[in-house]
Amino acid sequence: MNAITPKSTMKALVYHGPGKKSFEDHAKPEVVAPGDAIVRITRTTICGTDLHILKGDLPSCTPGRILGHEGVGVIDSVGPAVTAFKPGDRVLISCVSACGKCEFCRKGMFSHCTTGGWILGNTIDGTQAEFVRIPHADTSLYPIPEGADEEALVMLSDILPTGFECGVLNGKVQPGSSVAIVGSGPIGLAALLTAQFYSPAAIIMIDLDDSRLEVARRFGATHTINSSDGKAVEALMALTEGRGADTAIEAVGIPATFELCEQIVAAGGIIANIGVHGLPVTLHLERLWDRNIAITTRLVDTASTPMLLKVVKAAKIDPTRLITHRFKLDAILEAYETFGNAAKTKALKVIIEA
Ligand SMILES: NC(=O)c1ccc[n+]([C@@H]2O[C@H](COP(=O)([O-])OP(=O)(O)OC[C@H]3O[C@@H](n4cnc5c(N)ncnc54)[C@H](O)[C@@H]3O)[C@@H](O)[C@H]2O)c1
Ligand SMILES: [Zn+2]
Ligand SMILES: [Zn+2]
Repeated sequence: MNAITPKSTMKALVYHGPGKKSFEDHAKPEVVAPGDAIVRITRTTICGTDLHILKGDLPSCTPGRILGHEGVGVIDSVGPAVTAFKPGDRVLISCVSACGKCEFCRKGMFSHCTTGGWILGNTIDGTQAEFVRIPHADTSLYPIPEGADEEALVMLSDILPTGFECGVLNGKVQPGSSVAIVGSGPIGLAALLTAQFYSPAAIIMIDLDDSRLEVARRFGATHTINSSDGKAVEALMALTEGRGADTAIEAVGIPATFELCEQIVAAGGIIANIGVHGLPVTLHLERLWDRNIAITTRLVDTASTPMLLKVVKAAKIDPTRLITHRFKLDAILEAYETFGNAAKTKALKVIIEA
């Protein structure tokens, strides 16, 4: 092992149980397994899922955990089994860790890796710190291409692959098809950006927040519907000649928005669920049994990350448009305030520079 930085303590954002977090001194992580790498974080961000954890919605994340599952950085040290990276290499961190060898990894279903999956900032310490330990480094990190914009790449740790894999790929968006995306948060907007790879004829964005719908129009939505008046179904049917949307993407995670997708999906269409659901949802089979539809669910696998890296590098999409605020790591509590009050601050993604 060959550490660039000999320091033994670092600063980190630590979860201390529902509603409690602090920015504090913490032991610097060390290589534990031979396949580990220690990465010095240069940029990280906050996800809606971190807010879910702070609300106490995810019991898998226990008090004392460093939060964060997104970021880019520089390799500080590596275990003896790491062959793809060496100290000094600039890397993109995937929110999903993958051994590359288990049955699920061999199917490309990295989110269900038997010794990985979504563990960062959940069951092991995460990226909202000066350093992070990445297990299965060879297959969970990506080299940053020469000349790439690192802030853009932070959007590739989680939200771009999530919108693309769970929404666009599972929803089988086609040239000329119609797509409805319920929820215009960072994930819904990532689905909007990546749906355009396939040239659908219509992308209809639905949300309660006019300022997020305005962002959606700038990002390429052909139509927007503010559903706060309870008339989203009628509005969408009027836009699709009464047929509904070929792909209905759920990007909120509550029963009302999933049931809206059940009402707006076209015959032969697909409901592609992205949202994390904590409550049961009513499946209206009495209306859907003869509609030839499919419903998909997925935890992001990040199998599309190599492709997305090329697309971003070639400037085919610009994920930096999702970045609304920037903070230094020592102002991370302020960053949480801003991100947690998105309706007021109009925050989408906040970049935290370490
Ligand atoms: N499947 C996965 O692997 C995966 C990965 C990451 C995130 N997620 C989930 O994706 C979902 C979206 O994430 P996000 O970060 O964009 O969340 P967000 O909270 O920032 O955005 C949700 C959007 O939904 C809108 N909304 C809320 N209630 C609504 C309603 N009744 N009708 C219409 N719009 C409504 C909000 O105004 C907001 O713009 C979350 O549930 C998140 O946990 C899933
Ligand atoms: Zn996330
Ligand atoms: Zn695996």
